[in-house]
Amino acid sequence: MTNPRPRAAVILAAGQGTRMRSPIPKVLHKVGGRMMLDRAIDAAKAAGCARIVVVAGAHSPEVAAHARARLGEGSVAIQDPPLGTGHAVLAAKDVLADFDGDVLVSYADTPLLDASAVTPLFDRRAGGADLVVLGFEAVDPGPYGRLILGSEGGLERIVEAKDASPEELKVTLCNSGVLAADRALLFRLLGMVRNDNAKAEYYLTDVVGLARADGASVLTTLADETVVMGVNSQAELAQAEAAFQGAVRRRMLDTGVSMPAPDTVMFSHDTAVAPGAVIEPYVVFGPGVTVGRATIRAFSHLEGAHVADDAIIGPYARLRPGAEIGAKAHIGNFVEVKAVTVGEGAKANHLAYLGDGAVGPGANIGAGVIFCNYDGFNKQRTEVGAGAFIGSNSALVAPVTIGSGAYVGSGSVITKAVAADALALTRPEQVEKTGWAARFRSVMAGRKKA
Ligand code: UD1
Ligand code: MG
Repeated sequence: MTNPRPRAAVILAAGQGTRMRSPIPKVLHKVGGRMMLDRAIDAAKAAGCARIVVVAGAHSPEVAAHARARLGEGSVAIQDPPLGTGHAVLAAKDVLADFDGDVLVSYADTPLLDASAVTPLFDRRAGGADLVVLGFEAVDPGPYGRLILGSEGGLERIVEAKDASPEELKVTLCNSGVLAADRALLFRLLGMVRNDNAKAEYYLTDVVGLARADGASVLTTLADETVVMGVNSQAELAQAEAAFQGAVRRRMLDTGVSMPAPDTVMFSHDTAVAPGAVIEPYVVFGPGVTVGRATIRAFSHLEGAHVADDAIIGPYARLRPGAEIGAKAHIGNFVEVKAVTVGEGAKANHLAYLGDGAVGPGANIGAGVIFCNYDGFNKQRTEVGAGAFIGSNSALVAPVTIGSGAYVGSGSVITKAVAADALALTRPEQVEKTGWAARFRSVMAGRKKA
């Protein structure tokens, strides 16, 4: 087998995105907890593109800044002003001048496109096609460009809906916008594209007809319509999210995760859940969560957290970044955990805040316990030793250490280290006045009468 040709990607992101009606640039909106632009970059990388150029508009410097931060200098081309998709790809010409290989063109607002939809384009290139276009069968072809095939089944040209004849508009095979070609051929063809069309734009799609006129071979590969769906509005962003969630839920169920109400559970692009885990209704996974064979009870919210086997989380628990929940640990209702390692079998079952620190194996954190981790300037750590018992409604003022096996009496405010196996408590002695309440009631009742 010969080595595959080097692969690069040009990701178009210079459109205005006005229909989003958002101050945030369209491609920085998220699907599955990941920005659409990052998803497009991920797909290109997974398809083997070593060089990636993001074409950004001058109107959204945040897009260029994001691409530069992720991919480095030389990974961004500015299209100013935006004069069409063909013009947008041409903006990347100089950046790719020294690149010898295949170029993939994709859109940053097509969040469900993945490497499996893109790889066949490179395969067809390797098989000898000069230019390969990713098409799809549209249920409602409406505004999409139509793929006009020749008698041999090859692609002859793409006609935009606004320029199409009534006959051409009946075609349901549509252009996704994604294509692959040799770098030199692509830019040579783009140099010939003119803007004498309904929108007075330089259409990328015109390279197909130009390639055919040049005697080059053009083929199509197909993807599902959902995979190539573009996002132009908040409603379409929500549709893309729904499609993404549907796919992840099916994958989770297929791999042995129990979810009695899968439609109520929201996952992120990188959520990893082990077979045998149970996810109850209305659980939300932000990015960076892994869950072992554990139970996540209803209405819990997790992000940046790791949950080990046989742990029980929730109902109504919140795990924030850095929550490391050990095997058999219990984190119960209205307990928030941030940047705390909770040891095996430890329990915090009700109404607590554990922030910055560690809880040893088998420790018990009572109801209403607070790790006071912030003094308005700095965050400090609280360390609770193995098997320690923290009585309800205690405040542990960090930095502070509770030794293993120690007890903290309920309602204490602990500011100094507690030794192992000691009892620490900071509350006043209880006083009791015999019969006081009865006397009080009779005095008050007499006064009211008078
Ligand atoms: C394009 C295709 C159409 C295809 C459809 C699929 C052309 C001429 N038409 O149409 O055949 O069916 O996508 O969704 O290519 N962009 C730039 N600079 C520009 C213009 C666009 O970067 O000057 C970017 C946009 O940000 C977007 C992508 O290119 O990511 C597509 O642009 P859009 O205006 O949505 O093209 P369509 O008219 O939908
Ligand atoms: Mg579009």
